[in-house]
Amino acid sequence: MKAILCKQFGPPSSLTLEDIPSEPIKKGHIRIQVRACGLNFPDTLIIQGKYQFKPDFPFSPGSDIAGVVTEVGDGVKNFKVGDEAVAMIGWGGFREEVVAAAKVCFPKPPNMDFSMAASFMMTYGTSYHALKDRGRLKEGETLLVLGASGGVGLTAVELGKKMGAKVIAAASTAEKLALCKAYGADEVINYTEENIKERVKELTEGNGANVIYDPVGGVQTELALRAIAWKGRYLVVGFAAGDIPKIPLNLPLLKGCQIVGVFWGAFAQKEAAKNMQNTMELMQYFFRGELKPHIHATYPLEKTPEALQEIMDRKVKGKIILEL
Ligand SMILES: NC(=O)c1ccc[n+]([C@@H]2O[C@H](COP(=O)([O-])OP(=O)(O)OC[C@H]3O[C@@H](n4cnc5c(N)ncnc54)[C@H](OP(=O)(O)O)[C@@H]3O)[C@@H](O)[C@H]2O)c1
Repeated sequence: MKAILCKQFGPPSSLTLEDIPSEPIKKGHIRIQVRACGLNFPDTLIIQGKYQFKPDFPFSPGSDIAGVVTEVGDGVKNFKVGDEAVAMIGWGGFREEVVAAAKVCFPKPPNMDFSMAASFMMTYGTSYHALKDRGRLKEGETLLVLGASGGVGLTAVELGKKMGAKVIAAASTAEKLALCKAYGADEVINYTEENIKERVKELTEGNGANVIYDPVGGVQTELALRAIAWKGRYLVVGFAAGDIPKIPLNLPLLKGCQIVGVFWGAFAQKEAAKNMQNTMELMQYFFRGELKPHIHATYPLEKTPEALQEIMDRKVKGKIILEL
């Protein structure tokens, strides 16, 4: 089978496309013929050795897969050959075939195509867990989303509206902000041109945002935190800008606010039943036409380095998908 391999840490251009033997099937696992794999920012980190997980070489990046079951290992009861499945595997997805533990796989909803299914789990799963479980976002509250047109950011805009919040989307270009508006944002801020703290204060009559969703980090974090409302919740989601900000601790004291970490992958492992419940709720919203994953572009497997470079160059709105 063809596989994208990372043999040493480096930029996307250091990845290679190779023919490798199929893995043997294992007890409790299913073999999936991959039809689509979603790209996420963590894929750009894991190949550079900058992610919290460092797999042994050689490995394939790629976490969000959707495909067809071609073999079932001993003990698997919930899948049979020919079923369509989606899985979150951490890494190992940028290849034609994956052997995955059945317990991390879900049946693919019949009305979701493979690309849509491979774009869904990490982004919506992260934002729903962040806003519902960690931020306790309530109807009528104001939600500020940074990096709002990105993979996770756009789903936070969409889910925030669905949960009844007033949503302020912040991003770096007018084009990105136009997409956020189309996904329901009430107000937009271009943080390359405007001061986010001052604009949020203006847009909230001086009260600030109740919940702030931050997948960006860098210089915007402290400015945004200074615009949080009394007893607000600041959701630490990621550091796409590269720098992990250091926060003066007088700010949470003065605001009576909470700085709350969000780690969806760990949540999915440690609290599997709650994550399953969230996933089912998200699927229902999708079935009812209330969520619309935005696919920016699709690429073939051999163009994986170009696709990852697009993410690193900050060019992507929504999601990029590999189609096989
Ligand atoms: N905590 C969790 O459980 C969890 C789960 C998934 C992802 N994440 C993290 O969330 C972050 C975003 O992931 P994603 O998949 O949504 O990424 P993405 O689609 O690339 O979006 C990231 C956004 O960050 C902004 N950005 C600012 N500086 C950037 C830079 N130097 N390079 C790239 N983007 C930059 C961009 O928006 P503007 O151009 O508008 O600023 C971009 O749209 C990552 O740090 C990722 O590791 C965390």
